Amino acid sequence: MAQGNSVLEVKNLTHVYTDSRSHVETEVIDNVSLSFQEGKFVCVLGPSGCGKTTMLNIIAGFIRPTSGSVVFEGKEVKSPSPERAMVFQDYALFPWLTVSGNIQFGLMMKNTPAKVREAKVTEYLEMMGMKGFEHKYPFELSGGMKQRVGLARALAVEPKMLLLDEPFGSLDAQTRRTMQRELFRIMAQAKKTSIFVTHSIDEALFLSDRLIVMSARPTRVLIDIELKSAKPRQRSDKEYSEVYEKVDKVITAEVSKSIE
Ligand SMILES: Nc1ncnc2c1ncn2[C@@H]1O[C@H](COP(=O)(O)OP(=O)(O)O)[C@@H](O)[C@H]1O
Ligand SMILES: [Mg+2]
Repeated sequence: MAQGNSVLEVKNLTHVYTDSRSHVETEVIDNVSLSFQEGKFVCVLGPSGCGKTTMLNIIAGFIRPTSGSVVFEGKEVKSPSPERAMVFQDYALFPWLTVSGNIQFGLMMKNTPAKVREAKVTEYLEMMGMKGFEHKYPFELSGGMKQRVGLARALAVEPKMLLLDEPFGSLDAQTRRTMQRELFRIMAQAKKTSIFVTHSIDEALFLSDRLIVMSARPTRVLIDIELKSAKPRQRSDKEYSEVYEKVDKVITAEVSKSIE
């Protein structure tokens, strides 16, 4: 999909985990090449255990790939950077810091002055609809609120790119739908280049500009399509139901392969 400004290139990415004791090798990613365009919200779907988190961790710079490379704005990724902020499934908030402390964390790493940090906390809490929660601790928050703080913390460093690893996976169905709508609203405002991993086809169709479906392990790209219909989308849209059916068929086939 060569169009628009490419922010990130995944080139012939292959990853093999080697068990340190048994030396057993597990091939997880098989020669994946992808290009991500500026401002696009891309959803990645695939059966559980196929290698989505591994790929995101490599893109973030937490893991070095066995072979191939990730190039971000023309430079090879070799370590994590605040330019590529991650939102995790299990919230990963610091329990000993308040909401405000959590949101400021990345900014403190960047030596941002206190006044600016406080202004950012106010700005992003407002964006998340959580004004007044500055001094609460993570244990005082619901799952949906924790994930809003995770998102605020990632956005506050003003990254070039947002990596979201099944951020709504731990939420109940109702909260998940609310968060999808919230994320849609926030992304329309923030317009970040994003890679969003999810196992919900519905969620992907609701949110994405482009949808990538990965195979069972070792993972490859099976489907890579741009969604053209205007957002917000409805289940009753023609494109929505057509793509849903196609993706559902492919994923069901992959899941049964990985169970066999
Ligand atoms: N650190 C690791 N060491 C060895 N195997 C791993 C490690 N992390 C993940 N795996 C294995 O790699 C495969 C892909 O995992 P993961 O990337 O988490 O998949 P997904 O996010 O698609 O569910 C799984 O079989 C998992 O057990
Ligand atoms: Mg995962």
